[in-house]
Amino acid sequence: MRVLVTGGAGYIGSTVARQLVETGNEVIVLDNLSQGHRAAVPEEATFVHGDLQNRDLIDRVLADHEPEAIMHFASRTLVGESMEEPLLYLDDNVRFGMNLMRAAVEHGVNRFILSSTANLFGEPERIPIDEEVAIDPGSPYGESKFVLERGLHWLDETHDLRYAALRYFNAAGAAGPDQGEDHDPETHLIPIVLEVALGQREKIVIFGDDYDTPDGTCVRDYIHVLDLAQAHIRALHALEDGSRVYNLGNGEGYSVREVIDTARRVTGRDIPAEVGDPRPGDPAVLIASSDKIREELGWTPQYGDLEDIIGTAWEWHRRHPHGYDTES
Ligand code: UFG
Repeated sequence: MRVLVTGGAGYIGSTVARQLVETGNEVIVLDNLSQGHRAAVPEEATFVHGDLQNRDLIDRVLADHEPEAIMHFASRTLVGESMEEPLLYLDDNVRFGMNLMRAAVEHGVNRFILSSTANLFGEPERIPIDEEVAIDPGSPYGESKFVLERGLHWLDETHDLRYAALRYFNAAGAAGPDQGEDHDPETHLIPIVLEVALGQREKIVIFGDDYDTPDGTCVRDYIHVLDLAQAHIRALHALEDGSRVYNLGNGEGYSVREVIDTARRVTGRDIPAEVGDPRPGDPAVLIASSDKIREELGWTPQYGDLEDIIGTAWEWHRRHPHGYDTES
């Protein structure tokens, strides 16, 4: 299949782009490189440098390459930032996603996969979170993804667009020793903890220890980026049987303190930690039930173990202490 991957130079998008190439698909990556890295894009993919606010560019890419499917990763993705700049998220994420959907319909692309999020569930009514749990976004970021999910729902109803909305819990780990997570600035827990292990930062600040959890710190479901990628490939092939929505996690929760302790074991390094203020928008506990995708698509995570997840990330960080830009 010919697949357009927006955000295909980013952490998750580039991992999926590579798997698409490896499984015999033709890949076109569209990325503005605001977060992504040219070096992360698979060599076999066609790369277009550009932005989703440019509707003419989107039209040109679809006309030139005639993709049969679109995977939409390009997005602002930070819960905390969205609490500071809500309109940036509600405006950019929604407008850019809608630009892409409009173009998909106009160019007759009828398969669409959306990167959605666990943040759709805010403080969820039950744990683990299955697809029937009420949606009540925890932040403007989650809200923006919900609006995009609804857009796809209505395009399915009205234009026969088949879509999958994949709600990621906490993506983590590295796809390989030379392909990993590289954000600037970095805000995610595991990479920051590993930067402390490498001596690039003095300490990790734990955002609050007064949550209603066993050790008071937030609990998250960390899922390996390769497992996420596998889910995309399966979802793409399943679209011919209709649209679908899946929650994607391991089904195991780990607290911030457990992540830090595991990283100490994996790296053998001291990782100084101190408790700071909670971060607005952070729910106490997010753990997925992924029974639906397991049953319907036969998807099974290969990296259920937090040590394995952190181990792959550690390998990447050690070999590329400055990420993609400055090779070690
Ligand atoms: N945390 C700290 N200190 C830090 C960074 C993070 O204590 O320096 C804590 C956070 O408070 C949170 C946990 O570690 O409880 C994980 O935080 P991340 O920033 O790594 O990830 P988030 O849970 O905020 O968000 C991530 C993605 C979102 C996605 C969400 C789904 O960034 O796009 O997972 O759960 F929506």
